[in-house]
Amino acid sequence: MSHDVSGVPAGASAVRRTASGPGWRWLCAALAVVVGTLGLVLVSQRPGHAASTLRQLAEANGRYFGDALEAPLLTSNAAYSQVAGTQFDMATPGNEMKWDATEPSRGTFTFGAGDQIVAFAKAHDQRVRGHNLVWHSQLPGWLTSGTFSATELSSIMDNHIAHLVGHYAGQLYAWDVINEPFNEDGTMRASMWENTIGPGYIAEALRDARAADPTAKLYINDFNVEGINAKSDGLFNLVKSLKAQGVPIDGVGIQAHLILGQVPSTMQQNLQRFADLGVDVAITELDVRMNLPATPTMLTQQASDYAAVTRDCLAVARCVGITVWGVGDPDSWVISTFPGQGAPLLFDDNYQPKSAYQSVSDVLSAGAGLPPTSPPPTSPPPTTPPPTTPPPSSPGGCTVSYVESGWATGFIANIVIGNTGSTPIDGWTLSFAFSGNQQITNLWNGAPTQTGTSVTVRNLSYNEVIPPGGTTALGFQAAFSGTNTDPTAFSVNGVACTTG
Ligand code: XIL
Repeated sequence: MSHDVSGVPAGASAVRRTASGPGWRWLCAALAVVVGTLGLVLVSQRPGHAASTLRQLAEANGRYFGDALEAPLLTSNAAYSQVAGTQFDMATPGNEMKWDATEPSRGTFTFGAGDQIVAFAKAHDQRVRGHNLVWHSQLPGWLTSGTFSATELSSIMDNHIAHLVGHYAGQLYAWDVINEPFNEDGTMRASMWENTIGPGYIAEALRDARAADPTAKLYINDFNVEGINAKSDGLFNLVKSLKAQGVPIDGVGIQAHLILGQVPSTMQQNLQRFADLGVDVAITELDVRMNLPATPTMLTQQASDYAAVTRDCLAVARCVGITVWGVGDPDSWVISTFPGQGAPLLFDDNYQPKSAYQSVSDVLSAGAGLPPTSPPPTSPPPTTPPPTTPPPSSPGGCTVSYVESGWATGFIANIVIGNTGSTPIDGWTLSFAFSGNQQITNLWNGAPTQTGTSVTVRNLSYNEVIPPGGTTALGFQAAFSGTNTDPTAFSVNGVACTTG
């Protein structure tokens, strides 16, 4: 199967189709958008825990839930941007950071559309996965029609990476450095990179990216590598050999453009074998397409496929998150790429949640509490997974246990707050102070504020109440230099807690 395509983004054309037509169709479309928006406000913003967003549920598992965004739709489609802004906490530009968009003529770089995605993400407290640096598709004409020696092409590649990664340095969570380098049989794809520079282009690109931004996680991303098969074997062997050579590689992106009813039974095992090589894994482009028209039976099958993928990710500690490739069915690339197929995403034509949305929510709700293990890019992973220690009982109002597991420049801390009083703690703010220059980079199960050394963490909607005798767990990853001494005093809602 091949999905190589180029040209007009699927979403743009699909949404244009909806809005073109006689006047009454305009009215219907406008009403649908209004109804859709209202519906989503109800789904995503109702107080209480019953209607948590995908991002809240993923964050409760120490994971993210992301989407691919199309810059034009962020400003032209209210229902689209409403869902994109509220449901997700990781954004991937669908096309805006690809080579044809960012270096349309040699040495001239255009970052406007990519910057727009980053600005939207920041405004909605979302992180960004950069996509992508070196691929065989969506390349500008000057590059594909040129005749370059190996030395020249490699300097073109180095220059592109230096500019693009340098422009976004410090702002992105990750980069898909290499996209789709494999054939289905596990051999290397005969792209212009492979053909001209040779297989060493992969290590070179990864090193270029690390040099331009030491903080972004560097990924190789591919499709049809969800289960154990010849192609994922090829990818596995490549990652293994890159790690052995000390090439900077932090993660493997599993695209997961799936066909209805075809989630591979070996998916969890496959994710785990990559994790065991010492890299993160991420589901980077999930969609589940079906032949149109979609029937209720097909949509039920789709819900169970999405649930299976979510379960597989949650079962692997280093599966850091899931990204769906688009926001709702009308903006998916599937419509223009696979004729006769569609309905592949979590939101329907009116940006209303589908059964698949509910099934993903259910799996995330049931799986809450597993902390991820994912070290920052430049550091070796902790040798032992961070332990979680239950708090000792105490006659006072609260206990806090703080268990830290670190490496030279960073650490992961797991905190458990216990309520030893006789009434529920309804809404909590945890306060403590670091002793040095520790800086929190990522926190799960709470909303942090750090000012200098002092830290406060507020509850999220789903863990607001700690019943008498109950506990709630949160954790964070932090960077530091010098020495790292644990904080010693903690308070909850201004009351000092017993530590243990
Ligand atoms: C797709 C985009 O969604 C479309 O808008 C565009 O026309 C073609 O590319 N694998 C990838 C993505 O890594 O970059 C592709 O995105 C989908 C397949």
